[in-house]
Amino acid sequence: MAKEITVVGTGYVGLIAAVGLADFGNQVTGVDLDADKIKMLNEGKSPIYEAGIGEFLNRNMDSERLTFTTDIKTSVKKADVIFIAVGTPEREDGTPNLDYVDAVVNSIGENMDGFTVIVTKSTVPVGTNRRIKTMLTELKPDGDFEVVSNPEFLREGRAVEDFFHPDRTVIGYETERAKDVMFEVYRTLNVTSVPFVWCSLETAELIKYASNAFLATKITFINQMANLAETVGADIHMIAKSMGMDGRISPYFLHPGPGYGGSCFPKDTKAVVDMGDKLGVDMSLIRSVISANEAQKVRMVVKLEKLCGNLKGKTAAVLGLAFKQQTDDIRESPALTIIKSLEEKGCHIQAHDPKAMDNFEKEFPHVLYCNTAYDACKNADVLIIATEWNEYRGLDLERVSELMNEKVILDTRNLLDVAYVKKSGFKYQGVGRG
Ligand SMILES: NC(=O)c1ccc[n+]([C@@H]2O[C@H](COP(=O)([O-])OP(=O)(O)OC[C@H]3O[C@@H](n4cnc5c(N)ncnc54)[C@H](O)[C@@H]3O)[C@@H](O)[C@H]2O)c1
Repeated sequence: MAKEITVVGTGYVGLIAAVGLADFGNQVTGVDLDADKIKMLNEGKSPIYEAGIGEFLNRNMDSERLTFTTDIKTSVKKADVIFIAVGTPEREDGTPNLDYVDAVVNSIGENMDGFTVIVTKSTVPVGTNRRIKTMLTELKPDGDFEVVSNPEFLREGRAVEDFFHPDRTVIGYETERAKDVMFEVYRTLNVTSVPFVWCSLETAELIKYASNAFLATKITFINQMANLAETVGADIHMIAKSMGMDGRISPYFLHPGPGYGGSCFPKDTKAVVDMGDKLGVDMSLIRSVISANEAQKVRMVVKLEKLCGNLKGKTAAVLGLAFKQQTDDIRESPALTIIKSLEEKGCHIQAHDPKAMDNFEKEFPHVLYCNTAYDACKNADVLIIATEWNEYRGLDLERVSELMNEKVILDTRNLLDVAYVKKSGFKYQGVGRG
């Protein structure tokens, strides 16, 4: 039977969950503190860029299975199932900030009515779901509820696709009653071939961190190998391809670059180290990954200085600001570190990104934001490709060369064809390309 669901937090995760759960036939209310977001959503507009979201949003709103509000009280009261999908950003000391989760739990404790399943989708440290259970018991001693951990694995840029076709759905639960409700919520996925992992709360919480820490480690591994490859004159792409042919390794996440970014890997790796430190468990591998990733971002500017000397007074065209392609998310984007460092060195920045310029401008108002990649290249002394947007693969380098003052390219994503770059007369550096 379809459920009455409330999703609290309508950001990158909550909005996709709300839209997807409504598409499964459930009655869904998306709640957010941010009145501007809710206003946009009620006008049928997505506050984030995500391929395909508009169609799903409008389809489910038109069918009246999906509504949005800032009114958490009413939304909690009427819900059979409440998904918590608010942010868990890192604090200054690197630990996850659970204040947003706790605020939602308080609202749930004060307002839930009848049997309610509370599902944590936000990424939270191991033990948080058990703590949520304790908080709710204290807030509502006679409350009839279950707590479930259902971590999210979607990739920004492919979030809609990932919601409907996940590699797996992980559900940490304690009772058959909770399991039955979650089975109904995800009935559509259950009847397809999506594997479900039914496990304890702690196991579900740690699966999420283990997965992200592993992927961050894999990226960092190939980045360090790329640095070695470029020092000895080897080709990292041939190395990665050959490594990926080994079934034990797999070809994914072996693309070198300027270091990982985004809203998850940086904070989740730090959270793993913090958990280890608090529990007396050695997490030195992940600790090294974090520092190596920071060094990789800084290395990009060092490479640039090697390519074109003192950067003071130079104009840099930066193509790509989002932390990866197909998103407008700039959280922890390598472009942030690169541009900050270039500005400190006295560079003037002209930037372009197909989707992320508005978000970037809030943090870097002094950058000159350009309508096209070619506009950004006008009179530039150096061109830096910082995000792997497909449109930069097809740059007309003859045109770029005519627009620029000097012919220097730092391609931190290895997007460009080296033979074409050389033919066009550019001084060029990629990552690990010998
Ligand atoms: N973004 C990703 O790719 C991704 C992937 C997997 C897991 N996650 C995890 O999912 C969680 C959410 O991430 P996100 O990227 O969607 O965050 P986000 O910052 O995009 O969205 C969070 C939303 O929650 C709202 N919010 C905060 N406190 C609230 C409250 N008390 N009541 C109602 N709304 C409130 C905010 O206004 C915001 O709209 C995090 O724990 C993150 O680690 C994110």
